[in-house]
Amino acid sequence: MSDRATDPTSERAGDEKPRLKEYEGEGITVTFEPRRCLHAAECVHGLPEVFDLSRRPWVLPDAAEPARVAEVVRRCPSGALQYHHRPEDAVAEPPDSPTTVRRNPAGQLVVRGDLVVTGAYGDRHETRAMLCGCGASGNQPYCDHSGPCAEPEDDDVPEKR
Ligand code: SF4
Ligand code: FES
Repeated sequence: MSDRATDPTSERAGDEKPRLKEYEGEGITVTFEPRRCLHAAECVHGLPEVFDLSRRPWVLPDAAEPARVAEVVRRCPSGALQYHHRPEDAVAEPPDSPTTVRRNPAGQLVVRGDLVVTGAYGDRHETRAMLCGCGASGNQPYCDHSGPCAEPEDDDVPEKR
């Protein structure tokens, strides 16, 4: 079940929807957009009991306190991971303020804040995104590791799950 009315990734009505995997828990539901996942770091290292690439499903939202799960999801720089609570206590992820943009050494644009990202799915309200800085991505405006930003350890990321 999802709560698109308060989900920061919700799209403009009528637009094609991105493919999301949803992992529903008692106190929090985690969604995962495989095409947006870029590196195996924050989720699996931050909360290995919840995010475990060797397990199916690889996300178990009830394996930790909902607030802790939300805190680790917010570390996901690409925005591949999002969360929402049950509709009755729905709280959208608070955006960082002020909004920040930085170009990292790999050439990606790392953006956090109160965002409207326009792409193939229309205008998406988001709080975190890694945008393509090289022009090679097939998932514009997001980076998809098609360009020189790709890293050898990409085979370990959950987008392969
Ligand atoms: S979902 Fe992907 S991009 Fe996000 S923290 Fe986990 S490995 Fe990194
Ligand atoms: S910066 Fe990663 S594909 Fe362009």
